[in-house]
Amino acid sequence: MRLDKKVTLITGAGSGIGKETALLFAKEGAKVIVNDLNEAAGNQTVTEIIHHGGEALFIQANVTNESDVKKMVEEVLTTYEKIDVLFNNAGISGIGVLHENELENWKNVINVNINGVFLVSKYVIPHMIKQQNGSIINMSSCIAEIGLANRASYAATKGAVLSLTKSMQVDYAKDNIRVNALMPGTIFTPFVEDYLSKDPNPEAAIDSIKRRQLGGDLGKPIDVAYAALYLASDESKFMMGSPFMIDGGVVNGK
Ligand SMILES: NC(=O)c1ccc[n+]([C@@H]2O[C@H](COP(=O)([O-])OP(=O)(O)OC[C@H]3O[C@@H](n4cnc5c(N)ncnc54)[C@H](O)[C@@H]3O)[C@@H](O)[C@H]2O)c1
Repeated sequence: MRLDKKVTLITGAGSGIGKETALLFAKEGAKVIVNDLNEAAGNQTVTEIIHHGGEALFIQANVTNESDVKKMVEEVLTTYEKIDVLFNNAGISGIGVLHENELENWKNVINVNINGVFLVSKYVIPHMIKQQNGSIINMSSCIAEIGLANRASYAATKGAVLSLTKSMQVDYAKDNIRVNALMPGTIFTPFVEDYLSKDPNPEAAIDSIKRRQLGGDLGKPIDVAYAALYLASDESKFMMGSPFMIDGGVVNGK
């Protein structure tokens, strides 16, 4: 029980990495608040947690909507009276080279991937300051460290999340709040299935992604969930402002 009785809020926990992390956190004794925009998907995560004997609550909220976020944080505090861990996981992909991006699409990727992290953190942090305790995990990506073709808007947001993580860590270290970033490589989730489906040659695209990883295959959501578990637990108490790579060697092994 590595997260015994910890209250953990995971955004975008209806699918992929967020869902797998919610299931793992619950197995490790956490009370899990499953946030998602998608009501059916979020409820499904909660049903699975409860089925396995865990404790979870679904709160539908759009992480880009300030009143949704405010209400969500209030509901967590009314129910559980504290928030120990915030996992800012919700995110969307952005495909295309810079000049092919429409401004609306560019703004949308920035809105979810950066403003979403800003807003949920803004409403959770005052409570962590009061508690003088907390762990925040921000979802960046290994794309923040290397250039990858055709992902201009997405790369810009994940680079921003990494910089923001370091800056937040410096500001809140005095309040005993740790802030770290996850840097996954390509993880096989609905998010990746979706962008592969839009590729003119999906098979060639997946082959080229596989060749990029030293292990020759994509990661799985559980690979990232285990890293999130470590950052959420007190075992990682000396990790502060760190980029945590779970990328099959893409960045550091050539
Ligand atoms: N899959 C990968 O290869 C990979 C690699 C690096 C980083 N990431 C990041 O990991 C995170 C999760 O990705 P995934 O692959 O599990 O994606 P996914 O699409 O499977 O899940 C994302 C979830 O976020 C929810 N969501 C989207 N916008 C939201 C909003 N505005 N408010 C609340 N919920 C919202 C979606 O409904 C969905 O359930 C993202 O931030 C993504 O950028 C993914």
